Amino acid sequence: MHKILFAASEAHPLVKTGGLGDVAGSLPAALKHLHQDVRLILPAYRVAMANAGELREAARLTLPGYDAPVRLWEGRLPGTRVPLYLVDYPTYFDRPGGPYAGPDGRDWPDNAARYALFARAAVTVAMNQAGLDWQPDIVHCNDWQTGLIPALLAQPVSSPVATSVHRRSAAAPPRPATLFTIHNLAYQGLFPWEIFQTLGLPHTLWSMDAMEFYGKFSFIKGGLVFADRLTTVSPTYAREIRTPALGCGLDGLLNHRAAQLTGILNGADYNLWDPRHDPFIAHNYNTRTLQYKALNKTELQRRFNLPQNNELPLLGHVGRLVEQKGIDLLLDALPHLMQHPLQIAVLGSGERRFEQALLQSMERYPGRIGIIIGYHEELAHLVEAGADMFVMPSRFEPCGLNQLYSLRYGTAPIAHRTGGLADTIVDATPENLKAARATGFLFDAPTPAALHDAALRALTLFSRPPQWRKLMRRAMAQDFSWHQSARQYLALYQQALADARTSQHSRA
Ligand code: ADP
Ligand code: GLC
Repeated sequence: MHKILFAASEAHPLVKTGGLGDVAGSLPAALKHLHQDVRLILPAYRVAMANAGELREAARLTLPGYDAPVRLWEGRLPGTRVPLYLVDYPTYFDRPGGPYAGPDGRDWPDNAARYALFARAAVTVAMNQAGLDWQPDIVHCNDWQTGLIPALLAQPVSSPVATSVHRRSAAAPPRPATLFTIHNLAYQGLFPWEIFQTLGLPHTLWSMDAMEFYGKFSFIKGGLVFADRLTTVSPTYAREIRTPALGCGLDGLLNHRAAQLTGILNGADYNLWDPRHDPFIAHNYNTRTLQYKALNKTELQRRFNLPQNNELPLLGHVGRLVEQKGIDLLLDALPHLMQHPLQIAVLGSGERRFEQALLQSMERYPGRIGIIIGYHEELAHLVEAGADMFVMPSRFEPCGLNQLYSLRYGTAPIAHRTGGLADTIVDATPENLKAARATGFLFDAPTPAALHDAALRALTLFSRPPQWRKLMRRAMAQDFSWHQSARQYLALYQQALADARTSQHSRA
């Protein structure tokens, strides 16, 4: 059994902005099922505190350089048996708005300081210096917000960080092994030198071999340079980030660390996302009761102000409205797409320009396009259940969870062949249809024309109900549950431990 500290900046159902929240909310529970002693650590955002249920104060940390103590609340991740620690420093985390940005959508100006504090608290726990009488042998970090954790843990015992941050004594235990998971390389946590200077970190970290990146301080590099093992969330994205096209300037470093980098597909949490028992949809259904899916379509049409018509194919989309997700490709494909009899329903929020363009398209095609701008967890389930097809034109997609949900709901994904989309969807080519393998529709070039062509193939198959139902049933039978992925993480923890032992020997 491993002792794992799982550090993340969001976790469903405490706080969620995207797929990272889904993963941090379900992978720890899957590891728990595999009998691991896994504990989750998160910042005590106001919303997370409100959603966490019963909490007790487990420790009060005095961190050098901070004028107030950091409180560590202990509870359980709701709906699981996973112990939860919330790092409470009200100046940084007790605010309205999202975890990374304020109600106006702009990043909190003190994000570097906020996640530096979170990292220091996590390191204190990791080194068993928080008074919890528990030391993990693995610290599993996720995305840039946790990048400083491997960096701080890797500092030599005698360095100022070791003494000032978590006061390692001569008899201090060895550091735990670290694993850093890249959920999205495009978000790097970059801050100017002036901010770096205010963080009180060892100056050695400002180096191109450490966390300096083209004149900025890069939180993600802390993970990429210092973690014993690196993973990302699909095998294809693990290859893609080693190329200039999707490496975001870090492909050189990732190639250098290729031997420690692997791709492990995310799982879907079928406790939450399964039309057989989903409480947020109008009517539950399974492969034998597909007729009930139509009741969800009717409800979806009602919620999106679309005429209720079961014959018309309905294309759905849910997502963050940002460049990555290729919503502009869908918008640009509309003049051609709308020549076919179909409806579109989009739920999303993000960049103003995309929100506005979507709302305008709704005016241009009244009664044919329904748009809801906002973040609504429950409505996302209804889109998955009620749509016939789910459009994911992402320019890149490290894994993507919505296509996994779509498969389970018998809602054929139409997606760009990239990252996790390429790894989880089998394109409905004539050969794949014949071999009873196809589960969705993939297109190769991230262009409106290619998206339109794939949609056309989907519409054609949709017009042949017996064939369409076969595709739906096959999609619904796919198994992307966490079990398999959690086992792969376990194997990797084992290797990370071996690596950490070797590196500590060689440093000693
Ligand atoms: P990413 O993490 O890049 O946003 P994923 O496909 O991995 O993409 O995960 C997105 C998650 O966020 C899904 O659970 C999806 O349903 C949810 N989500 C995104 N936007 C919204 C929204 N506007 N309302 C409700 N849920 C949303
Ligand atoms: C990121 C990626 C998404 C992935 C999610 C969870 O937000 O954009 O593809 O599914 O993280 O790993």
